[in-house]
Amino acid sequence: MAASLAGRDLITIDDLSNREIETVFALADEMSASVREHSHLCQGMIMASLFFEPSTRTRLSFEAAMNRLGGRVISVAEMGNTSLAKGESIADMARVVGTYADIIVIRHPWEGAAKVVADYAGVPVVNAGDGGHEHPTQTLCDLYTLKKEKGSLEGLKIALWGDLKYGRTVHSLACALARFGATIHFRPSPGFEMPEHVLRKLTTEYSGRLERQNGPKDVDQDGLFPLDAIYVTPSGPHQLANIPAVGIQMEVEKGVDALYVTRLQRERLGKTQEGGGSAAAYPVVSSELLKGRKFKEAIVMHPLPRVDELAYEMDADPRAMYFKQAERGMPIRMALLALLLGCREGSTTGARGQEYAQKKGYPVYRRDTGIGCPNANCVTGQESETRYIRPEFQIISSAPLVLRCVYCEHEVHPQYVASSKWHQGILEKKRYYRADNPLARRISPQNVLAFDSEAAAQAAGFKQGGRSGKRVPEKGA
Ligand code: NCD
Repeated sequence: MAASLAGRDLITIDDLSNREIETVFALADEMSASVREHSHLCQGMIMASLFFEPSTRTRLSFEAAMNRLGGRVISVAEMGNTSLAKGESIADMARVVGTYADIIVIRHPWEGAAKVVADYAGVPVVNAGDGGHEHPTQTLCDLYTLKKEKGSLEGLKIALWGDLKYGRTVHSLACALARFGATIHFRPSPGFEMPEHVLRKLTTEYSGRLERQNGPKDVDQDGLFPLDAIYVTPSGPHQLANIPAVGIQMEVEKGVDALYVTRLQRERLGKTQEGGGSAAAYPVVSSELLKGRKFKEAIVMHPLPRVDELAYEMDADPRAMYFKQAERGMPIRMALLALLLGCREGSTTGARGQEYAQKKGYPVYRRDTGIGCPNANCVTGQESETRYIRPEFQIISSAPLVLRCVYCEHEVHPQYVASSKWHQGILEKKRYYRADNPLARRISPQNVLAFDSEAAAQAAGFKQGGRSGKRVPEKGA
């Protein structure tokens, strides 16, 4: 059956199944074969283009795409020109813009901002980058390029290079690659490793394995960022599964299908990191660096803009693919807009994979116990948004308790827990426990109360428990 994307949002790459991604690609093929022949497809439709961070490719390719489809574009490119500058919440802005436009494309510096806009707009919303969180449409351009250049998306080997901490494109890309059965080599700039919450997701939601490397953390003798970890899907090489150390060495020597380079996201660095040695020691990807056997077949990708990390001489190298990636942004976004607006139904032939990221159906934590998202850049912590957003988490593990913010996906590891079913009428049983206390594990997810300090637990009327071996007053209740 053809997939229908009409009316949907694209906030994280997890919002699309593998088949739906292939659907977008099939239509993008059609769009790029005859860019000028679709000028009536979205006639009468309006796209609001809200870019509150710098953008060249993403914004202009979205706007060009809508124009090519015969639709119209309204846009704002400066927060200072909107009522956000007066302290308006993004929810209120979304409500209003959703009545003017048929679709909203938003880029915003806060992580989770695009989800809030989608929650309130009432029209499809596309995340064009929310802080350091995700950039799913760049991933579509990246995967499309991989498919075009390598023939298939199944079982590719990709090295991710550079700022994996703040680079939102690699967060979306790693998840998508994992779903298509890729082997991923993580080569971060030291100090800019892939965030733990993304790595955890790769293993919990995509069922692959992560082999961490504990070698030297500096640029190696070949000028390469050190290998920090390798992610292998279950269909990955056997050697790796059986004898990790040797297997990994063999795996690395065999080389990769693509090297995905990212720039240092200077605008997201804290003041202390700004002058740090890691930022200074960013090697330049050049013909010299890539002359080894392991990069012979590797296409070189970059979401752009480049700064110093990619030598201009690479532009003449047949492996350089970054301008093609950018060029493909327009047909990809034409296809996506047409599908989300319901102006075209998608169809794919021969595409496998109805699968999304494995939806785990995690229980939700929405209690008012003072637990907030620890990410200072999360939308839930911003003054204008705290008036209406209540922190919300998925309980991704209960022993020990791990919560994932539903907006920015950062994790919280609360230190103290209690049960909402504490009492059974007996005040003596109103106890809190350290999160690592075995008794804490007996509290079922739907009853758990999480606190970030003993003071918070005590302020909620709980007394310290666990030391005397007192039983938690329930089991799976
Ligand atoms: C990227 C972004 O904005 O995250 N640019 C883009 O959209 N192509 C990458 C970057 O800015 O480094």
